[in-house]
This record gives sequence, structure tokens and C-alpha cells, in this order.
Amino acid sequence: MRFSSAPFNAFEAAVQDPKEQEEGEGGSFGRELLAGLRSKPRSISPKFFYDAAGSRLFDAICELPEYYPTRTELSILARHAGEIAQQIGPDAEIIEFGAGSLRKVRLLLDALKTPRRFVPIDISGEHLAQAADTLRADYAGLDVQPLVADYTRAFSLPAKAGGSGMRVGFFPGSTLGNFSPAEALSFLQSAAQVLRGGGLLLGVDLVKDPARLHAAYNDAQGITARFNLNLLARANAELGADFDLAGFAHTAFYNAPMQRIEMHLVSRAAQTVNLLGERLHFAEAETIHTENSHKFTIEGLRTLAARAGFGIGPVWTDPERLFSVHWLPAAQ
Ligand code: AVJ
Repeated sequence: MRFSSAPFNAFEAAVQDPKEQEEGEGGSFGRELLAGLRSKPRSISPKFFYDAAGSRLFDAICELPEYYPTRTELSILARHAGEIAQQIGPDAEIIEFGAGSLRKVRLLLDALKTPRRFVPIDISGEHLAQAADTLRADYAGLDVQPLVADYTRAFSLPAKAGGSGMRVGFFPGSTLGNFSPAEALSFLQSAAQVLRGGGLLLGVDLVKDPARLHAAYNDAQGITARFNLNLLARANAELGADFDLAGFAHTAFYNAPMQRIEMHLVSRAAQTVNLLGERLHFAEAETIHTENSHKFTIEGLRTLAARAGFGIGPVWTDPERLFSVHWLPAAQ
């Protein structure tokens, strides 16, 4: 995930970058995939994992016995919802960055006193509208305003809801870990600006035994492998590329000095792929870097948040200290 040309604090402008809007998701996928495969080492942003098939595979990952983050974060939110609601107060407006199934925010909404508005922001429109409709049906009195946007680039927020409640950012799932440290800092700096007077509820995965991390990204059923390879299936279906899915292998490993899981697709042999009128040559064992998933220490995350302009609030973890949820107040 890269912040491109557009300044991130264009955040509060009235509309999303018009170029992105008119080009649509598919256009941006083709353009970024081609650029990522022309550069060496080859890479593509993990934000493109989440088409309809990819979103379903991700939901399946969240249920895997080895993939502890989702169920651990849900347990932290469930157990500490009361204390979290106390930090936020009544009449809040919740902005969720990268809303998937909207399962986690329900735990928050259920604990809050009279939440007013909920703005889920996601790159995938289909998934989002459906999830928003379901939520609306269950929370009468909540103004649900989904926003289709790429929050890793410039995007807008609707004007803050009237009333005295806080504007609260909700960024669960350790999606922050997909950013490079520099990108994470810019994202947090922009968030601290748009959330002034409120705060950010942030869920991040913690550093731990590499064996545990390795298992979470190399599940026995091979669902994570299918999720990774789905990028190539998507390129074939949407862009008319001719990737041979059997010609690439999923690989994921913990890069300890960089404190991150890396996922790659490895070319099993020398081969040529046609994509958007270009012939791309892959050497045997050459990889496409598809994801970084950074892990954090509680102190490291707090230092980063403070550098971005946030105050330091309480942090909640599970008994095994696998995952953490942070309340980061944003000064007025
Ligand atoms: C949604 C980015 C938090 O990094 O653990 C799961 C994505 N990739 N298995 C993560 C993912 C492979 C996930 N995030």
C-alpha cells in the first residue's frame, strides 16, 4: 500500500480523487498490477486481495484454527466493551476504516450509549452495501452512511454529525500492519487530524513466537494459499491475463528484523505471462511480494501513535498477549 501523489490530508475535501472514481476499482487494479510487476523486486498491494472471492476466502481465514487474530480481537472487544464505551461517551460517530463484514463494530455499537452515526469505509462496494443494509436493519436510530473509498489514498469524510458526541475512528484487524512504518505514521497523522476531539480505537497484532505466526499464515487447509493465489485468478478474470495458477506457489515467512510476516507468490519455473499487452518474464524462484503484515509491541505502537500526535490511552489485550486494542485520544 502506497500513498501516491495525492496528499493524505486531502481527507476532508468534499469528494474522493475524481481520477480514482472515474477509473473505478478494475482500472486501478490493472494500472497498479502492471506497475508492480514491471518493478524489481516485483510487488502488488494487498488491498487488491479483496474482490468478492477474496473477501470470502478472507472470511474463511478468520475461522481457521491457526489464524488467532480475529477471534482474539473479538474476545478482547467483547470482554472490555464497557470500558471502551466509557472512553467514548454518548452520541458518538464511528468511522470504520476498511470495513469487512462489520461483525466487530457490533460489539462496540452494543456497548455505546446512543451511537448516532456509523460510516464504514471500504474499497469493495458490493460487500459494503450489503453489510451496511444488514447493520441498518439491526440498529434503528443509527445513521449508517457507507463510503466506497480507498482510505490509503486521499478521500473525504462527510461533515461531522451535529451534537456533542465524539468522532471515533475504528481500525481493527491489524490492517495497520499492511502499511510500511512510514505509511502507518502518515495514516495516523491524518487520522489524528480528522478525529480531533475524539480518538482512534486501533487493533494491532503483537510480536510473538515466530512458529505461532508462521502457522497463522501457512494453514493446513491451504486457504491462505488460495487467498494469495486469488490475486492471479483476479488478474486473469478482470484483466484477461494468462497467469498459470499451478505455476506459482504461496509462501509466507516471518521476517524477524523487519517485525513482519511477508507473503509472496513464487514462480515454480521460468515462465512468461501476458498482461495488458505486455509479456512479463519470470525467472525460476522469482517472487511477487503480495503482503507485509507488521507485528507490534505495545510500547512500539504507543511511540508511533505519540509521534503521529495522539495521546496515550488504555490498552486491552488477551491473557496470552497475542493481540492488542488501543484507545488513542486525539487532542482538540
Ligand atoms: C487483514 C491485513 C490483517 O495481515 O493478518 C490474513 C490479512 N493475510 N492472512 C493479516 C491476511 C493473510 C490480514 N490483515
